[in-house]
Amino acid sequence: MTRIPHDTSGEPNPLRTLTLDRLRRRTSMKWRTHPEDVLPLWVAEMDVPLAEPVVRTVTEAMELGDTGYPAGTAYAEALSAFARKRWDWDGLAVERTAIVPDVMLGVVEMLKLVTGYGDTVVVNPPVYPPFYDFVRHQDREVAEAPLGADARIDLDVLEDTFRRVTDGRRRAAYLLCSPHNPTGTVHTADELTAVAALAERYGVRVVADEIHAPLVLGDTRFVPYLSVPGGERGLSLMSASKAWNLAGLKAAVAVAGTGAADELARMPEEVGHGPSHVGILAHAAALRDGTAWLDALLDGLDTSRRLLADLLAERLPAVRHRPGDATYLAWLDCRALGLGDDPAVPFSNTAAWPSTPACRSAREERATPG
Ligand SMILES: Cc1ncc(COP(=O)(O)O)c(C=O)c1O
Repeated sequence: MTRIPHDTSGEPNPLRTLTLDRLRRRTSMKWRTHPEDVLPLWVAEMDVPLAEPVVRTVTEAMELGDTGYPAGTAYAEALSAFARKRWDWDGLAVERTAIVPDVMLGVVEMLKLVTGYGDTVVVNPPVYPPFYDFVRHQDREVAEAPLGADARIDLDVLEDTFRRVTDGRRRAAYLLCSPHNPTGTVHTADELTAVAALAERYGVRVVADEIHAPLVLGDTRFVPYLSVPGGERGLSLMSASKAWNLAGLKAAVAVAGTGAADELARMPEEVGHGPSHVGILAHAAALRDGTAWLDALLDGLDTSRRLLADLLAERLPAVRHRPGDATYLAWLDCRALGLGDDPAVPFSNTAAWPSTPACRSAREERATPG
């Protein structure tokens, strides 16, 4: 296993480095929204020490008082080099990028460039819930093209939805989540090529949220949407925030395909004043110098993912689990437990579990020491 370069404890797994006491001193959403004994697993914050290049870069900025407005293209340059090395993609041209405050505000800006009020944005549920809120907040309609039972894009459903929402030559966009959150599904080159062909056929513009891309595990390959044939008219949002745990250091990059460069150029320059300058420095350092840390994290995530699968099979066999290839969230199907309409209640208080056989055995497992 790869070692964490700056960690002196000898622990190779960044997910195992910090104690609970230390984590509880954090003041972010994960650690302050609920009572101390509740861990909100929906908050995508990791329990890791930051990568050393990030800490060093931010510390130097603090020492220098380098906390002004952002300037330059260092983030896009680091991302472009990372894309070349990691995804074998040399199509991320710095001149076709723009910095944006974060991924979701970047999504909003991209949708503004390619749709107008009342137009429709297609999403693939189950998907990151803010996709709905942000789209509706800018007075666009949401149309759903659910993932198939295999958690992959159902191309027939997508085509039907594209046909319906563009009927009468109406404008529409497709907000693609790639890799998909929450399933962790990594779309293949063939799937993305088919998506691009459908988008072209129906004149639907694709905005790809690719925030989970650096988190792809094992031998699975991430394919950037803009790299597939027909993806040139797409726009993508990328960020180091998910993979390096930098959500509090706001920044992201919008990337245009060769056929969307003019549209990206229309984005008001002031949008680029929104990200934090320190955030940009941190994200660029992560992408440039934080790959050893990322590799150690990915090893650690793989270990956790296997451990969870083993424990579920052994102790909660009624719960179905399909490990995702690009996520640190686990998506569990607990329907067989019969936890009612609001499973959050029994999950935060086991005394409230119904007395079905599956729940009884789960409760007994929980009470068993070790
Ligand atoms: C798919 C997806 N997009 C966007 C975000 C949020 O990114 P940001 O904080 O950069 O807006 C998340 C956070 O978990 C996410 O999972």
